[in-house]
Amino acid sequence: MSLPYPHRHLLAIEGLEPPYIAGLLDLAESYALLNRSGKTQRDLLRGRTLINLFFEDSTRTRTSFELAGKRLGADVINMSVATSSVSKGETLLDTAATLNAMNCDLLVVRHGQSGAPALLAQKVSAAVINAGDGTHEHPTQALLDALTIRRRKGRLEGLTVAICGDILHSRVARSNIHLLTAMNARVRVVGPPTLIPAEAARLGVEVFHDMRSGLRDADVVMMLRLQRERMAAGLVPSSREFFRFWGLDAEKLAAAKPDAIVMHPGPMNRGVEIDSAIADDPARSVIGEQVEMGVAVRMAVLDVLSRQLLRNA
Ligand code: NCD
Repeated sequence: MSLPYPHRHLLAIEGLEPPYIAGLLDLAESYALLNRSGKTQRDLLRGRTLINLFFEDSTRTRTSFELAGKRLGADVINMSVATSSVSKGETLLDTAATLNAMNCDLLVVRHGQSGAPALLAQKVSAAVINAGDGTHEHPTQALLDALTIRRRKGRLEGLTVAICGDILHSRVARSNIHLLTAMNARVRVVGPPTLIPAEAARLGVEVFHDMRSGLRDADVVMMLRLQRERMAAGLVPSSREFFRFWGLDAEKLAAAKPDAIVMHPGPMNRGVEIDSAIADDPARSVIGEQVEMGVAVRMAVLDVLSRQLLRNA
């Protein structure tokens, strides 16, 4: 299948044109069907090397890139930073030189600093995929969220999506806002004023500080983790109080449409931003499907970027 994806890397959703977003989602959908049928396609990335370079912890993102790479036949190497020479003081650019010398084709990077994957992309010969950089973007998460929504609701356009909780520190929220507004969904952000970025209005979203009004008639309710590790002290009250005002439970969810779906990128803080009874309710929660679609989306991204490598060779 030929896909008109014009870029060498996938660093952000911001600026990615709607036809390319739709094309990636269509390709990911075909990988989702292939994965469900149990077939693999090991020829596409045979002989290619994919390196997962993670400077921050991850469970699902790293594993799902690993699985996606292996299903397409790549040699996959996981470089975890605690055991790499970065902990011995090597700079990001020294690391880039090492990766170049190893002829890495596809480089998946997660880093605590916004912009680190873009910096690496200027220095390595590999195609770079941003797997989350600081509070900036997490493009494959937004694509897998969009694919999950599209499968459940049949479209993105015209849907009302409420993204709730710690928007300020969330690269997931930022990528989702760019993707969903580009695809003409109506996006609301819902949370305490201390956790909503000042730039929210400029991003074309509606801001709510109250869950019941923010969730009213929503088609999709996307909960985010409270990212205490990125917070200066004092931004939120105790976890119990946060749950009382901002945590999703049956009563708050009742404001959304009766068939609204509930999403969470993981990892979840049960009892802080989401009640277990909702997270585990198969009638509402699509959290498991998000993880499944993560593999399909990453296969689609590796697919288009490897074809670009061929074109640039
Ligand atoms: C997110 C991340 O790391 O940005 N997790 C993920 O990739 N599924 C969200 C989070 O850490 O809360």
